[in-house]
Amino acid sequence: MSRLVVISNRVAVPKARGAAGAQGGLAGALNSALKQNGGIWFGWSGQETDTFTGNINVQRSEGVTTATIDLEQADVEEYYNGYANSTLWPLFHYRIDLTEYEQEFGRGYERVNERFAQSVLPLIEPEDTVWVHDYHLMPLGERLRSRGVKNRIGFFLHIPWPPTRLFVSLPFHQRLVRAMLHYDLIGFQTTEWLESFLHYCERELGATVDHEDCVVELDGRKTVAKAYPIGVDYDHFVAQGQTIAAKTAYRRLCDSSRTRTAMIGVDRLDYSKGLPERMDGIGRFFDTYPDRVKDLLFIQIAPPSREDIGSYQKIRTMLEQKTGQINGARSDVDLVPIRYVNRGYSMAELFGFYRAAKIGLVTPLRDGMNLVAKEYVAAQDPEDPGVLVLSRFAGAALQMGEALLVNPYSPDDVAHNIRLALDMSLAERKARWEQLIVTVRDDNVLRWTDNFITDLEGTTEPAVG
Ligand code: G6P
Repeated sequence: MSRLVVISNRVAVPKARGAAGAQGGLAGALNSALKQNGGIWFGWSGQETDTFTGNINVQRSEGVTTATIDLEQADVEEYYNGYANSTLWPLFHYRIDLTEYEQEFGRGYERVNERFAQSVLPLIEPEDTVWVHDYHLMPLGERLRSRGVKNRIGFFLHIPWPPTRLFVSLPFHQRLVRAMLHYDLIGFQTTEWLESFLHYCERELGATVDHEDCVVELDGRKTVAKAYPIGVDYDHFVAQGQTIAAKTAYRRLCDSSRTRTAMIGVDRLDYSKGLPERMDGIGRFFDTYPDRVKDLLFIQIAPPSREDIGSYQKIRTMLEQKTGQINGARSDVDLVPIRYVNRGYSMAELFGFYRAAKIGLVTPLRDGMNLVAKEYVAAQDPEDPGVLVLSRFAGAALQMGEALLVNPYSPDDVAHNIRLALDMSLAERKARWEQLIVTVRDDNVLRWTDNFITDLEGTTEPAVG
């Protein structure tokens, strides 16, 4: 295998590690992939500078070499908070109501993609395999090609690809996808997102699509597009269970929930995660089964995310109100039904919390994959596993049909499935978990990396031209 150059906006530089829940799935997955394969990881440092210098800060820690650049304040505003997280993120999560189309956002996005191309160029050697990640950097492959890079270049989208009818509301949508077709291989989390992409290429670009071999051909250039469902770093995650931190976390939650069944949710505080809707479902559960209030303790871990963006500030306020209302109405002097926590925890602590919680509640309104669902399953005790309640709109639902699948928009459906989970027999919990763990263990992040890189290296000829 040739050396890997991974490029993503967010890089898990060592000092930022620890608060795993705050990072999202991408950073953890790439960390594991690079530890296994070696290579370098290039991206934004997370820092702002007055004037862009392109200076690269190289660090090596725990077997991973990171190379990062600082961005200007206007870059962060227009590219990161703007085009990436106020235009593409909401649109790709089907939230056209929250999508902002500002001209400066588009310009900032183009500028930062140029900056990435210019800065990473000297790091790429002729035999390297280049792997670009996520919606921040969709045009990067084309920028590298225009600078003469002839290496294999792959792209993986960690979030959904929206239906064509939504996607065409994006100004210059054609330009964006035409740029993407300079990659040799494009990966999606599920066949659902892949099919939407292929549909767009055929209908809007007039590309020729070979559905059997998953090849898109446009202007004489061929790009392979396929689904590669991401997984967790199973062995590494399970090893966390042996740490003192995991055992302490497990005890803390068991001891403090006393006779109540703990149910857990762990999500970045993002509107795509359906947190206010989840609270409505829990409120409905308490209204429908008032005698069960004493049986259930819900812990929601929600580290704040993208806090400079208005839609994120609003969702936080809304969540706080709903949590406060339910707790106000249902608490007693010695009982509070919901513990709502705005911070991240280490992987080891999360392992302990997941294991102590007998229900995992993962109800995004739309999600590319969702690794919390897989981590929850990986952390369970085989002799007494908990129940996963999972949104049918998470990419993970396609692989995890033995979970209790719910419609996160329906408080009644969420409430009903919480009750089913609370009352599920040990035999049924085991039967479901034994199926789920096979996918979680076998379709892990190392297999995901291998599958993608093998296919990328096997593409017939680089999509140059
Ligand atoms: C999602 C995205 C990632 C992103 C992560 C955290 O998982 O797919 O690209 O890194 O969220 O978001 P942030 O804006 O903090 O990088």
